[in-house]
Amino acid sequence: MAVCRCKTPLSAKKTRVMIILRTVNDVRDYVSSERGRGASIGLVPTMGALHDGHLSLVEKAVAENATVIVSVFVNPTQFNNPEDLATYPRKEEDDFRLLAGAGASAVFAPTVEEMYPGGPEAQEPHLFDLGQAAEVMEGKYRPGHFQGVAQVVSLLFRIVQPDRAYFGEKDFQQIAVIRNMVKSEGIKVDIIACPIKRADDGLALSSRNALLTPEQRKIAPEIHAALKYSMDYSHSHSVKATHDTVVERLDAIPELRVEYFEIVDARTLAPVDEWEESPWIVGCITVYCGKVRLIDNIAYRIPKA
Ligand code: PAJ
Repeated sequence: MAVCRCKTPLSAKKTRVMIILRTVNDVRDYVSSERGRGASIGLVPTMGALHDGHLSLVEKAVAENATVIVSVFVNPTQFNNPEDLATYPRKEEDDFRLLAGAGASAVFAPTVEEMYPGGPEAQEPHLFDLGQAAEVMEGKYRPGHFQGVAQVVSLLFRIVQPDRAYFGEKDFQQIAVIRNMVKSEGIKVDIIACPIKRADDGLALSSRNALLTPEQRKIAPEIHAALKYSMDYSHSHSVKATHDTVVERLDAIPELRVEYFEIVDARTLAPVDEWEESPWIVGCITVYCGKVRLIDNIAYRIPKA
């Protein structure tokens, strides 16, 4: 176990100590000693290259749990494209400094061998029941992706046994799939959904934004702009017209290419044809900006509290 000392940005005097855990056994020991003193445990799973979106999850977890463990692990089994895995940004030192500053109690940053002894291929085959929510959108365009997400998240849940786990609504479908996984695997944990954090120009924060050229970075906010525009538009137009206006607007920009845009029931992720079909309707989009794959979403209808 190592320790990372970091001055928080809030107070020059305050120094936080964050434990760095590298092995599954270290995590188990740490969790059992935290449990021994009656601490509630929050888990924030990440793949690192952290930004304010990730940190907003950590801050919420810190507010709601005595002990917060953040995992930083680029999970190879959820990448269906080897180039995407190879180019995925990795910044461990920066990540640790940011996590200590945000008040995380411990970071779990294992190697691939530690998570998957003998390599991912050597693991016992296990097909997760992820329901219909895993078949559409990302499920269709990234075959095997959600099985990989379920594999690593269920492994993390079994190692850490958190009371609560925090996920961002930027990956709207991922939350639905993880909820299904938790149910079908019988894992006891509260899944907490956190709102999307955006840059000032509206672009959803993402580790992949670091891969954009300066020109692409200027164009990428058009994705959120198109979604925002379509929100007003949706009040006087059909689902299909709203869908088409977003796709046409974005595809007209030479650097952008819409992979999919689907307007779905937020609970089942099944496509809707009419606004009246569900009280909670979300538009989920994936757009290539050059070679960089960006995702975003917008809620068109939200149930009244
Ligand atoms: P990663 O892309 O690193 O994201 C980690 C968590 O941060 C996810 O829950 C994601 O939805 C959330 N997040 C990312 N950008 C955000 C933003 N702009 N606003 C709010 N939350 C945001 O998602 C993964 O990693 C992996 O699939 C993982 C769940 C860790 C499994 O490997």
